[in-house]
Amino acid sequence: MSKHLITIDQLTSKEIKHLLELTKKIKNNKGLYKDLLTARTLGLVFQKPSNRTRVSFEVGIAQLGGNCIYLGPDEINLGVRESTSDVAKTLSRYLDGVVARVFNHADVLELAKHASIPIINGLSDAYHPCQALTDIFSIKERFNKLDGLTLAYIGDGNNVCHSLLLAACKAGMNISVATPQGYEPDFNVIEKARADCEKNDVHISISNSPQEAVRGAHVIYADVWVSMGDEAETDKRLKDFDQFQINDELLKDADKDYIFMHCLPAHRGQEVTEEIIDGKHSIVFDQAENRLHTQKAILISLYS
Ligand code: CP
Ligand code: NVA
Repeated sequence: MSKHLITIDQLTSKEIKHLLELTKKIKNNKGLYKDLLTARTLGLVFQKPSNRTRVSFEVGIAQLGGNCIYLGPDEINLGVRESTSDVAKTLSRYLDGVVARVFNHADVLELAKHASIPIINGLSDAYHPCQALTDIFSIKERFNKLDGLTLAYIGDGNNVCHSLLLAACKAGMNISVATPQGYEPDFNVIEKARADCEKNDVHISISNSPQEAVRGAHVIYADVWVSMGDEAETDKRLKDFDQFQINDELLKDADKDYIFMHCLPAHRGQEVTEEIIDGKHSIVFDQAENRLHTQKAILISLYS
């Protein structure tokens, strides 16, 4: 694996397979690599709130013997109090790595460009690689395979969707995305994912029809309709996404053994009904737990 983890695009299918295997080992034996990060300190530079990413990284780093410093929006004030390159160079003199959660993807790229320590993308407006790797692990854990499965992503074609598109195609599963018009995934991401589809003999579909996307799907995936940073568009988005709610009616043509996934946080009654997210097909809290194990595997790959 290269020095940083910024997008799924930088990982090969083989590296993803290795991370999935390592995650399984770590999950089965929490004490593995318990001294890996001894005397090392990682910084969490977060411009946005977080539950899962912050807590799972802090716990994972502690389980690997390391320390953490949380640097929220008021501490570093990335690019405002001082330039992002100066932040990267300064933090490289104190820390052994940074998990960065930023608004603008260019900021995480800028950190990586100027840092001499590993930078991990903990979500940007364009990508959420730690989430997507966790999601693929969670699917494989549930079905014991990826081959022949289809993930249907219903909602906004943004960060989570982009990373899922890249991860699914590299890991060898089909993906169908349905978004409202105007919220389609970025063209360049689709093109990159398509290149891997051909190599791995899997299928991608992008449409504006949730009914079409969920037909026969084994994994149904939702994200919020209003992502962090999009709050000013809330009223418009609630209207635009109105027909994209995941509910019993929509899922009548999904595979009968489908699983429901959501990166969380969730808004019951908007992108998904309470019946579905709290129902028997939902694996959202296994998925949330798996952030911890997957990120430990990422740290092990970056630091061993
Ligand atoms: N899924 C996820 O990244 O959750 P947080 O925003 O709570 O970190
Ligand atoms: N798309 C969401 C994901 C949250 C984990 C957001 O960016 O807010």
